[in-house]
Parts: sequence; structure tokens; C-alpha cells
Amino acid sequence: MKLKSKTALITGGSKGIGRSVAEAYVKDGASVIICARSESALNSAKDEISRFGEVDSIQCDIVNKQDVKNLTNFVSQKWGKLDILVNNASILGVRSTIIDYPEDVWADVINVNLNGQFYLTKALLPLLLKSEQPSIINVNSAVGYVGKATWGAYSASKFGMEALNQILADELQTHNFRVNSVNPGATRTKMRAEAYPDEDPQTLPTPDDISPVFLYLASDESQGVTGKVFEARDWIRK
Ligand SMILES: NC(=O)c1ccc[n+]([C@@H]2O[C@H](COP(=O)([O-])OP(=O)(O)OC[C@H]3O[C@@H](n4cnc5c(N)ncnc54)[C@H](OP(=O)(O)O)[C@@H]3O)[C@@H](O)[C@H]2O)c1
Repeated sequence: MKLKSKTALITGGSKGIGRSVAEAYVKDGASVIICARSESALNSAKDEISRFGEVDSIQCDIVNKQDVKNLTNFVSQKWGKLDILVNNASILGVRSTIIDYPEDVWADVINVNLNGQFYLTKALLPLLLKSEQPSIINVNSAVGYVGKATWGAYSASKFGMEALNQILADELQTHNFRVNSVNPGATRTKMRAEAYPDEDPQTLPTPDDISPVFLYLASDESQGVTGKVFEARDWIRK
């Protein structure tokens, strides 16, 4: 039970990678809150995960300031502090070259994947600073480190997220605070299928397969590790 008595919030915890990370944390003893936009998906994830321990869910669109305020109040009233924040929620947008990239989709993707991460992280920092061993885990992507054709706003937003990761790690290093980013690598989820419709999902690792690095970064085993990039694939149990 590496996460006994830890509290964790996972954005986009209703599906895919976020849902698996939530289940892994609960199984390792953490109290967990998951958030996302769709209430029905949140409810079914909560029902399934609660077989293993304590999990709560709250509807929150991370770009909606009132939703972010409600979520922050919920965490504050429930725990009075936060130990682990996993910034996982994000959207793909479209796969398109820049010349054809729709401007409204560009704005939406930057808003969710970059602005939303900033709004939520800023709002939760006071609660994270009340933890003895706070850890922020930012879920990035290979195209958040190297730009590639047709990844448009998704890639640009993830580069921005990596900047936020480095800025926070630098600003908070005197507070025993860990801020790291994780590249999941190709993983069997809805977003991956949208990005690669012709790929056979069965050839990919599942979200459960890639959870070990998220456990490491949430637990005290990663004490002192900050401002780093982790490849989830390197942590898959053989
Ligand atoms: N799967 C891969 O191969 C892969 C590879 C590299 C990086 N990643 C990264 O891994 C993370 C998880 O991806 P995934 O593949 O698990 O995606 P997914 O299956 O599409 O799940 C995304 C989650 O984010 C939530 N979400 C989306 N927009 C939101 C918003 N505005 N506010 C709150 N929640 C929101 C979704 O729920 P609602 O729609 O109900 O809000 C859902 O729970 C993402 O950051 C992604 O960029 C994935």
C-alpha cells in the first residue's frame, strides 16, 4: 500500500489512461477524486473503482472557471489538502496540416489542453502546498516534445504543457514539491483510435499496462525527483 493516506485528483479520470490510474491509486490505498465532463461516464467509472476502495467523482470541465472553483471547494472540504494532482484530461482536435487547420478547433484544443491545465493547477496549488510531499504529474505526448506534421494544436498545446511543467518544477523546488511529465506512448484508448483509425488497438499496451510510472511518481519513492520527463513504456512490468 504505497499510497496509504494519500489524496489524489485525476482529471479525465472517467475513461482511458486517467481511469486506469485512478483504479491503480485506489488499489494502492489512496483516496481518489476523478473529474470529467460526462456525468454518466464518471458514474460508471466510480461504481467500478469503488469495489477497490475510496473514490469520489465530480463533474468538471477544466476550462469552466465555475466548475474549477466547485471542484477546488469539494477537495478543500473533503480533505483540506491535496497530495497528488494528475493533469490528464485532454482532447485531440483534428489531424490536419496547418494550412487546413480549422481555427475554432485550434482554439478549443489550446483552451482544454493548456489553459484548462493552468486554471486547475493554479486553483489547486494552495491545497497542494498543504501536503508534506506534493506531486503534480502532467500527462504529455511524444508530439509535446517534438513537433510533427498534422498534429497541429494538440502538439502546440502539449509543448505549452511541458513549459508549464518546467516552470512549476523550478518555482516550487524549495517546497519539497515534485512536478514531472509523463509520455504514455501509444496506448489502447478512444483518443488513440481517433488519431489512428486504421490501427489494430489489440497491438497496443492497455492503460493498465502503463500505470506503474504513475504509481512511482505519486508515491514517496520518487521523493526529490522533479522537472523530469518519464516514458511510461519504460516502466511496463515485464
Ligand atoms: N492514448 C494514447 O495513445 C496517448 C498517447 C500520448 C498521450 N496521451 C495523453 O494521455 C492522456 C489521456 O488520454 P486518453 O487516451 O486516455 O484519452 P481519452 O480516452 O479520450 O480520455 C480523455 C479523458 O479526458 C476527459 N476530458 C476531456 N476534456 C475534458 C475537459 N475539458 N474537462 C475535463 N475532462 C475532460 C474525458 O472525459 P469527458 O469527455 O467526459 O470530459 C476523458 O475522461 C491525454 O492527456 C492524452 O493527450 C495519450
